[in-house]
Amino acid sequence: MSKSLSATQAIANADLILYNGHFMTFEGDKPYGALNNAFITIKANTISYIGVLTDNLTTAISDSTSAKYDLQSRWVSPGLIDCHTHIVYGGNRSAEFEMRLQGISYEEIAKQGGGILSTVKATRAANHESLINSALKRLRHLFDEGVTTVEIKSGYGLDKDSEIKMLEVIAQLKDQVPATITATFLGAHAVPPEFKDQPDQYIDYLIAELLPLLKEKQLADCVDAFCETIGFSHAQVKRLFQAAQLLGFNLKLHAEQLSDQGGSELAASMGALSVDHLEFLSDSGIAELAERGTVAVLLPAAFYFLRETQLPPIDKLRQQKVPMALATDCNPGSSPCTSLLLVLNMACTLFRMTPEEALLGVTKNAAAAIGRQESIGSLAPNKLADLVIWDIEQPADLAYAIGANPCVAVIHQGQWVLDKLT
Ligand code: NIG
Ligand code: FE
Repeated sequence: MSKSLSATQAIANADLILYNGHFMTFEGDKPYGALNNAFITIKANTISYIGVLTDNLTTAISDSTSAKYDLQSRWVSPGLIDCHTHIVYGGNRSAEFEMRLQGISYEEIAKQGGGILSTVKATRAANHESLINSALKRLRHLFDEGVTTVEIKSGYGLDKDSEIKMLEVIAQLKDQVPATITATFLGAHAVPPEFKDQPDQYIDYLIAELLPLLKEKQLADCVDAFCETIGFSHAQVKRLFQAAQLLGFNLKLHAEQLSDQGGSELAASMGALSVDHLEFLSDSGIAELAERGTVAVLLPAAFYFLRETQLPPIDKLRQQKVPMALATDCNPGSSPCTSLLLVLNMACTLFRMTPEEALLGVTKNAAAAIGRQESIGSLAPNKLADLVIWDIEQPADLAYAIGANPCVAVIHQGQWVLDKLT
């Protein structure tokens, strides 16, 4: 970590200065960590200074030969982080949506071999190029709204070649997009047809064949699983996680989405970065999350799309100071959503989160959910310069509006990647 510069040194050495704006830093005690009438300096890919403007500093900025951008009182936030997606997949499930509208449940469709397994079929049949192209279309919606980091899970391959193919696609996307991508292995998403009614044997296969290979090829940062009656049991997840942890993978878990399986307690007790969904999270689960500092990732678009009625226990999570994150959960079955801004509104409207909690959920707490809180998620010296410029009057506008996109410009690691003004 480089030592911190004085404001005048930072201005003199900057590659880029954004000034005359308001910043949601998500640092310090003020709501949104707001810094009004302030400026930020960027050196290479990193924030070198952020602070309030004084007359002297305004003069120093106008004297400096660095590239400059007058924010004209606009707001700047950290780059948004979508910390839970399944954005790489083949096929489409709108026919299943129509079935659900006829009254057939998500679980029933899954039991009939539809659901996740229908996407597995389409993903197995797709080549790298078509998976990349369809994912890019969806990713562009996220980027257009200021997302600079996306977590992407595998889990629609469910055999060695197809899971590797998905993770290779995710790795190739890293080089093609103006954002940071993290990869999560979700081999334990559903039991594939080859192991029908043999979930234990499938877990054995993942442990013996997949985990060591992923480690060797460095294709995943985290290992995730779906702990549910239609997914994997507490005991099966535990076995997978123990093996993953021995190899040095971070852990995440789809837990308590449709029923209480005690998955959150298990994952938190093993030091998982996050547990995700959580509509059926128990009091003892909440206590374990609070104790371990595990992030609760809430997915209001999946709640909405499946018309769930049991709300995640937001009040209790808030009381116990469990960090809450939000994500699109972009996937073809339970959340065909590519708008993190819409998720902010859903979190407030459906879950009664405050706009500040919602924005923390797609910045600072989302960074923690993917283990990147040291480098992204807030605006502070030495953090990566991932920034979004917004045409809004106050931060809550981002969660208030439905279908608006006030994103004006985006900087990823010090580089302009979107500029709608020029
Ligand atoms: O996060 N819960 C399990 N997995 C996904 C849904 C995947 C699918 O239906 O294709 C989720 O909601
Ligand atoms: Fe998911």
